[in-house]
Amino acid sequence: MKRLLITGATGNQGGAAARRALARGQDVRVAGTRVDVLRERFTGAEVARLDLCDPSTFALACEGVDGVFLIRPPKIAKVGPTLNAFIDEAARAGVQHFVFSSVAGAERMKHIPHHKVERHLIEGSLPWTILRPGFFAQNFADAYRLDIVEDDRVYVPAADGCAAFIDTRDVGELAAQILAEPEGHARKAYWLTGPESLSFAQAATILTQELGREVRYERASALGYVRHLRKRHRLGWMQTVIQTGLHLGLRRGDAEAVSPQLAELLGRGPRSLRDFVRDHRERWMR
Ligand SMILES: NC(=O)c1ccc[n+]([C@@H]2O[C@H](COP(=O)([O-])OP(=O)(O)OC[C@H]3O[C@@H](n4cnc5c(N)ncnc54)[C@H](OP(=O)(O)O)[C@@H]3O)[C@@H](O)[C@H]2O)c1
Repeated sequence: MKRLLITGATGNQGGAAARRALARGQDVRVAGTRVDVLRERFTGAEVARLDLCDPSTFALACEGVDGVFLIRPPKIAKVGPTLNAFIDEAARAGVQHFVFSSVAGAERMKHIPHHKVERHLIEGSLPWTILRPGFFAQNFADAYRLDIVEDDRVYVPAADGCAAFIDTRDVGELAAQILAEPEGHARKAYWLTGPESLSFAQAATILTQELGREVRYERASALGYVRHLRKRHRLGWMQTVIQTGLHLGLRRGDAEAVSPQLAELLGRGPRSLRDFVRDHRERWMR
């Protein structure tokens, strides 16, 4: 049986990948900086400390591992000494397959950290699969949650732009599937989205119907959103600029196209935004 190392397991994609791999009966090692949380959440898994900013933790985390699932923690911008050094260590440790979850369009966006990780894998010797997911449905429970819970509104500068929201449970499920049976997936990159493209007004309607109280979509201006992220969410300048830029991109249709690949790979349709909201209603309760 293969031993799989799952990073980011306290987060969205890694959590889903670890749960799925455990459910498949795989030998799973979850790794991250908060080992206590990992121990509490994943009783059936081995736990290792992995700090991608501390190379002294890499070798032990990779020891005896056949497959790795890697995400880029949002706070890590400099990937050379962190994620890319970790990939090198995984290759030295004899890892046979590496799945990296990047972001849709990363192959064209040379300035983003994911692009540099992709290049490093592509130019290296380790067999890899790159997943390129679009906008996460989980943003409604993370980045937008406070505005929904406290103000009953979704407030973003996307105008009438649409996104084909993907549920990270599907990304994790696919990652676990590829790591269990990597044959045919080496040196392939998959563009992944949810099943339909929705405007934020449509998303607010789904929240209203599923939560049983009115949630409205309020169009933010770029400047209004910057102020909102700084004052209300207390985001740093870098995160504010990135988050604002991503939402302005939605106005141009950056994330509206729907990809058939997830359904083809999973052998079933992707989860919808409505499925996600219905399964996590308690996240938006006051
Ligand atoms: N939001 C979107 O719509 C979207 C769409 C496409 C792609 N993405 C990309 O998806 C990635 C985020 O994925 P996610 O949402 O699954 O993550 P997430 O839920 O934000 O979780 C981040 C994970 O990173 C781990 N982490 C943080 N610092 C670490 C460190 N120094 N060493 C090791 N692990 C560390 C955290 O674990 P511990 O703190 O427990 O160590 C946590 O498990 C980002 O790269 C983002 O750009 C996002």
